[in-house]
Amino acid sequence: MNNKYLLEISNLGKHYSNENNLKIEIIKNLNFKLMQNTKVSIVGPSGSGKTTFLNIIGLLDSEYDGDFFFKNKDISLCSKDETNQIRGLSIGFIHQFFHLIPELTVIENVMLPLLINKNEKKSYEISKKLLLEFGLDERINYKPLKLSGGEQQRVAIARSLVNNPDLILADEMTGNLDEDTANNIFNFFINYIEQNKKTLVYVTHNKTYSILADEIYYFKNKKIHLKNE
Ligand SMILES: Nc1ncnc2c1ncn2[C@@H]1O[C@H](COP(=O)(O)OP(=O)(O)OP(=O)(O)O)[C@@H](O)[C@H]1O
Ligand SMILES: [Mg+2]
Repeated sequence: MNNKYLLEISNLGKHYSNENNLKIEIIKNLNFKLMQNTKVSIVGPSGSGKTTFLNIIGLLDSEYDGDFFFKNKDISLCSKDETNQIRGLSIGFIHQFFHLIPELTVIENVMLPLLINKNEKKSYEISKKLLLEFGLDERINYKPLKLSGGEQQRVAIARSLVNNPDLILADEMTGNLDEDTANNIFNFFINYIEQNKKTLVYVTHNKTYSILADEIYYFKNKKIHLKNE
C-alpha cells in the first residue's frame, strides 16, 4: 500500500433492491485511487451513480462490496463509531441543497463539526475567523433562511472546511444557484482549495467547472473512467 494515496478502492460494487427484492446494480468492479492534494471531478448522466459513489467514499454508506482503504486504514475493519470518527474529523461534505440546520445561527452551523473534539470557545474563535475569510462576518448571528442562496452555500462550504479535513466532497454544489452566483461561489471555492492544498472530489454537470480538475472521470457502465481513457 502506497501512502501517497488518500483513498484506495478496488472492486467496488453497489446494488439496491427494488420493491420486488430484485437486485439493481449501480456500481460494478469500480477501481479508484485518489492522491493527496489533487482535485478530481466526476461527470456523467443523471442516475449513473455519482451521488451513490460520493456517499460511499464519504463514509455515509457502508452497504457495498469491495475493498476500501482510507489513509491506509481498511474501512471494513472499522466499527461504526470508528467510521463516524473518521468521517467527522477527516471528511467535509458540500451538498446541492446546503443542508444547514435552520434552527441554528450561521456560526453555530459552522462550529458543529469542531465540537467533536474542541471546546465551545475555541470552536467559536476558529469558525469566526473562517467566516471572516469567507466575507460572512456580518452574518454570523443570522439564521440560514435569512441569507441568500449564495450566502447559505458559503456557510455550508465554511462548515465543510472548518475541521481542516483531509478530503472534501462536493455534490453539485452550485446546482441550486443562479449562473452568476454559481460562478462566484465556485471560483472562490476552487481558489481556496488550491491555496490551502486540499484534496477534493466534486460532482458537476457543468463542463466549465469539471475541466478545472487535475483529473476528470466520467461514470459509464457502472464504473468511473478517466476522461481520456
Ligand atoms: N436508496 C435508493 N434505493 C433504490 N435506488 C436508489 C437509491 N438511491 C439511488 N438509487 C438509484 O441509483 C441510481 C443512481 O443514483 P444516484 O443518485 O447515485 O445518481 P446520480 O448520478 O447522482 O444522478 P444525478 O445526476 O441525477 O444526481 C439511480 O437509478 C437511482 O434511482
Ligand atoms: Mg446525484
